[in-house]
Formats: sequence, C-alpha cells, structure tokens
Amino acid sequence: MAESLRGLGYSTATALADIVDNSISAGASSVDIQFEWNEADPYITILDDGRGMDDAELENAMQLGARNPLEERSVSDLGRFGLGLKTASFSQGRRLTVASRRKGEGKVCLRWDLDLLSVPGNEGWHLYEGPDLASISRLDALENVPHGTLVLWEKLDRVAGQGFTVQDYLNLQDEVQKHLAMTFHRLLGSGGDGLLLTLNGQPIAPWDPFMVGHPGKAWASPEYTLSGGSDIRVQCHVLPHKDMLKSRELEQAAGPGGWIVQQGFYIYRNRRLLVAGGWMGLEHAGRSLTRDEPHRLARIRLDIPNSADADWKIDIRKSSARVPVRFRRQLLMLAQEAREKARRVFAHRGQWSPAPQRQPVVEAWVAEKSAGATRYRISREHEAIRSLLDRSGPLRKELNALLRIIEETVPVQRIWLDTAEDTETPTNGFSGAPEPEVLELMQITWGNLVEHRGFQPEEARARMLLMAPFDRFPDLVAKLPA
Ligand SMILES: Nc1ncnc2c1ncn2[C@@H]1O[C@H](COP(=O)(O)OP(=O)(O)O)[C@@H](O)[C@H]1O
Ligand SMILES: [Mg+2]
Repeated sequence: MAESLRGLGYSTATALADIVDNSISAGASSVDIQFEWNEADPYITILDDGRGMDDAELENAMQLGARNPLEERSVSDLGRFGLGLKTASFSQGRRLTVASRRKGEGKVCLRWDLDLLSVPGNEGWHLYEGPDLASISRLDALENVPHGTLVLWEKLDRVAGQGFTVQDYLNLQDEVQKHLAMTFHRLLGSGGDGLLLTLNGQPIAPWDPFMVGHPGKAWASPEYTLSGGSDIRVQCHVLPHKDMLKSRELEQAAGPGGWIVQQGFYIYRNRRLLVAGGWMGLEHAGRSLTRDEPHRLARIRLDIPNSADADWKIDIRKSSARVPVRFRRQLLMLAQEAREKARRVFAHRGQWSPAPQRQPVVEAWVAEKSAGATRYRISREHEAIRSLLDRSGPLRKELNALLRIIEETVPVQRIWLDTAEDTETPTNGFSGAPEPEVLELMQITWGNLVEHRGFQPEEARARMLLMAPFDRFPDLVAKLPA
C-alpha cells in the first residue's frame, strides 16, 4: 500500500507545496526549503517556525489518514485528507523523517523508511523513533527556530534516477521556485500575508498572474459573488497587450507554463492556488472552451472556501478541482466575457491596448443601480443621441418621450432568459455584421460630429474611438471619412 501511494501523480514542486501547506496551517511565518546535492545522493529539508508538534501529535501526523476528510476544518486550514505529509513525501523519496518541537518542550522525531517496511519477516508497520544514525546532523536546523517542524526527505529515488546530473538538480530547483512563487503568491511577502518562503536561503518573490497594478492592464471586472449558496468569489482580468510590456515583463507575465497554458481559471482555496489555468471543461454550444493563442490574456480569479472541498472535488494533491454543475452557467458567462475582451486586446495590437491615461468609452447604454434594482438607460452623452437631441427642435419632447419608452420597455427578462438557456448568446455590437453596414452607420455619426458639432477630423476620430460600439472597430475608424 505504501508503495502504491507513491503513484498519486505529484511532481517535486506540488509535493513540496503540500508540505509548505502544513507549515502554513501550523501558523509558520517562515519556511525554508533546502536542496542538498550530497554527491549525487540528494536530500531535501523543509523547516518551519510553526507551532510544532508534541509526541502524540507527531505520531498521529505520521499515520495515513491522520484526520477524517469529513471533519470540519478551521477556515485557514490548508489540509483535508490527512495524507499529504506522507503521500507527498513518499512520492519523492523512500525515507521520511519528521522532527518537531513545541515552544518550551523537547524535540520529538519519527521516521518512515519504505526499505525497512518491506524487509521480509519484518512484520507490521514499523515507525522508527529518531533519524537514521547517518542523518542526525541533517536535523540540526531545527535548533535555529524557537519552535517548529523539520521535514527531511531522503533516498530520493523519484527525484534522482539514473543519469541525473547536478544541472538537472538545479533545473528542478528552478521549477520548484516558480511553482511555489505562483502557488503561494497571495500569502507571500508584504503584499500578502507576510509569509517568508525561502529556497536555499533565497526569498521566493510572489508571482501575480493578474498583474494587479500594472499601468498597461487592459481590464479587470468587479468582484462577483456567485449565486447558489456558498461564498464563491470571482474576478476576471485581461492582461496588457504585449506592446505594453518590456521584454522581461513579458517573459515574467507568461508564467511557469507559458502563455497558452496559463490562461483561464485560477482557483484558490484560502488564498492558496490549487488550479492554475484552463477553462474547467466549460462548454458553449456543445464545444469546450479551449486554451488558445487569441485568448491568452484572459485570467480569472476564483476563490472558494475550504468548506466547499467536496463540492469542488478537490483532489489529494490539491492540483485539480471541478466546477459544480450549479455554477457552470454563471462561470461560462463570465469566462466568455473575459475571453472576448482578451481576444480584442490581443487582436488589435497596440492600437486597441488602452493607454494608461485612457478615457472611458462612452457607452450607448448605462446601467443605473438604485435601491437594489438596476435600470438600463440610453446615455444622453452618446454622440448619436446628443446630436439628434440638439437638433430636434420642436420634436425634442417627443424624442425624449421615445427614449423613455424604449428605456422602460427593455426586455430585460427576455434577454436574461435567452442568455440563461443554453442556446446562442444574443448578439449585439455588430457581431457578425458585414463591414459596409458598420461603415454606413459610422459615416452618419461622423457627419454629425464634423458637420453639426463642428469637430475637426482628428477630434472626431478620437471621439469615435471612444464611442460604443465603434470603439471595437479602430481599423474602420482610421479609414474615415471613407
Ligand atoms: N509542519 C507541521 N507543523 C505542525 N503540524 C503538522 C505539520 N505537518 C503536519 N502536521 C500535522 O499532521 C497532520 C497531518 O498532515 P497531512 O498528512 O499533511 O494531512 P492534512 O494536512 O490533510 O491534515 C496535520 O493535520 C497536522 O496536524
Ligand atoms: Mg497537509
């Protein structure tokens, strides 16, 4: 059984993240991971300054299924199955030694060794006390913290197979560093919860998939709470077009898996990242949303509480999750909006990318929220409306009445139903309309701006670029007057 548990599919990076989770759950403020080469017999230690364990706690911690997965956990607990310490460790090596010390107490230490478990005639599950004699000094670092835990992985047969070189070991550390920078980015450093995570003594800087605060950031939605019960929060992001990034930033922003892989949903549980990218098998019109080049700038943050583990089918490795059916429709709509915006930013190159001081687009419709209800109004600021109102003379009253009638009869229910039923999303914004049709409307608006409002062509062009729906057609606007 112990041998079978090695095959759960951890990578070195995900296994280490699972050990770091335990440190965080134990209240650690710093965690140091050390990779020792040890002349091609490498070992890895993870030291934390968490609350530590006493004898009984450590003995329990070393058991498989140390805790019942059905048990309610404190809100900040990152564990679930009571397996991680063992399964993550065995996935990498054959010997696991854990030493721990609570504040003001003595050190305790226990060890599993798969080689000793499998010795014929050695019946039973032998959990050994203390480190292997040759490894005593490898636990020394525990003396550097007032209380805490040190995990030692040895006999790393799954890390260092035949032909494994120092360079491979260094590359592995690089991969681990990137993975941890991503997994714990919201917990790390001054911007996060102040966790100090170091790799061979070097602090790991957080990697933020959403580039929050970058001046070239194309779009971020408000934070939504999904309807349907538990506290699930979502925020959609569209990253800057590549022209807005310096080449180093561009490389950084891509993330460990590269641009294509890193698009889509980022699912967090207690601010710890579980899933980095992918469209969660969401489907539209019978086809799965796929990760592709045009949508690479779309990334969606999704926060779930740890009470929702079973609902979201969090796996033992904490690397996968599934969207419960009742949230699929809502997430699909958010995903499609983010994807569409991302595609436009991607496709329109620098022209479309909003400049940092970019002015807001003048929409034809505005949503007004008051007393919990939303009303949809036609914007009187939109050029098409404004110029008509200005020139309406005796018809002004009637025109205003018409606008009111339209506003009061927006088929909100109908649109909502059509959108919610799994048919095509209602279209607008000229989607699919032939170019001449768009151009014709543009020319009418252009005429209004130049002839009636007296704008110079360049000013008129600038206004058109900031006017819905023409803001979506910068290449056509550039051709005006056609
Ligand atoms: N670094 C640590 N510091 C304190 N306690 C720990 C540490 N690592 C593990 N433990 C204890 O061991 C238990 C089992 O850990 P684990 O096998 O990872 O399962 P889980 O994290 O799902 O509870 C934890 O619930 C915790 O009580
Ligand atoms: Mg754990």
